[in-house]
Amino acid sequence: MEDVLDRLCATVPDYPKPGITFKDLTPVFADPEGFRTIVDAIIAPFLGRFDLVAGIEARGFLLAAAAAYAAGTGVLTVRKAGKLPRTTFTEEYALEYGTAALEVHTTDIPQGARVLVLDDVLATGGTVGAAVRLVNRSGGTVVGVGVVLELDGLGGRAALAGQEIHSLQCVGG
Ligand code: PRP
Ligand code: MG
Repeated sequence: MEDVLDRLCATVPDYPKPGITFKDLTPVFADPEGFRTIVDAIIAPFLGRFDLVAGIEARGFLLAAAAAYAAGTGVLTVRKAGKLPRTTFTEEYALEYGTAALEVHTTDIPQGARVLVLDDVLATGGTVGAAVRLVNRSGGTVVGVGVVLELDGLGGRAALAGQEIHSLQCVGG
């Protein structure tokens, strides 16, 4: 796992601003072995324990759709605010400057569904935290959180206290 990520993940210095080293997963997604490897690994700790995979717009969609297909479950799109046509639950989260919000339709999650939440990166935990709250408000149960990269030192795990979190690789944040 780590060797696939080390080989394929692109490291971009000084992006999006000076002093930040950005880990770009697009080459991992674009590689047949890389993509299969991360999708298989991200669901492995949770296999048999979830009925639905929730993917967070945008990059989480890629993982969630493939993971749901591999596990034989449905997939739920947790969308950025304003994209869904019917009545939604909305949860805000903090950005570096200001706030953003995620939404799900109020009726999309079957009551009692066991939901695996997937995203590409866990940094501050704001994004995944909002998705977890949406699942809970919908009457589902979050069985765990899976991410490819966990940026250490940004408080993501603390923000998601009580959740089972598995990351494929932990890197300096
Ligand atoms: C990025 C990333 C995670 C989130 C992690 O999404 O894909 O979803 O930030 O940050 P956090 O843990 O501090 O919330 P972003 O919304 O920037 O872009 P995307 O729409 O391309 O996924
Ligand atoms: Mg994202």
